[in-house]
Amino acid sequence: MSATGLAPDRTLAIARRGLACLAIGAAAVGLAACASLAAATPTPRGPAPRGEPARLTPAPGVPGNAERGRALFVAQGCAGCHTVRGVAARPSLVGPNLTNVALRPTLAPEAVPNSPENMVRWIMDPPATKPGTAMPKLFVSEADARDLTAFLYSQPYNPRN
Ligand code: HEC
Repeated sequence: MSATGLAPDRTLAIARRGLACLAIGAAAVGLAACASLAAATPTPRGPAPRGEPARLTPAPGVPGNAERGRALFVAQGCAGCHTVRGVAARPSLVGPNLTNVALRPTLAPEAVPNSPENMVRWIMDPPATKPGTAMPKLFVSEADARDLTAFLYSQPYNPRN
């Protein structure tokens, strides 16, 4: 008999179980700490998980609401002619793929230097910029054109286009 009044092997088993519980407890505290850290992290970066909309990275110096622009892209019919990776719409090849449009040095295809201002003007009235262009004037308001531009400029770089 040991000091605890239990057989020594039984004392050992209880001690072992105690240690295991301690380890699990510590892991749980660690997990809880990680979870609260994750909750405090602001915008996640990098590609979104499969099936989720692309994470937008608002570009500095480009005014406009990128998230609103994303909704407008479908609501205003842009998605009917243009593909943007991550926008849930049937892919269309009538107009150029706009996934990485912010990286192009010029627009349509070389009619104007690519800048947020020129893109806003283009979206509001393409034929005024390039007579005879196949993109029609869609009577988009300036506020909407700014949000659409903010959206197109905040696309994550996507090498697969
Ligand atoms: C009827 C089809 C059509 C619709 C609808 C349309 N586009 Fe276009 N878009 C085009 C075509 C075609 C071009 C290429 C024009 C050219 O190169 O002359 C173009 C070019 C562009 C470009 C320049 C792209 C580049 O690679 O140079 C942008 C930006 C753009 N469109 C944005 C939009 C937005 C935003 C909307 C919605 C408001 C929209 N488009 C709606 C057909 C369309």
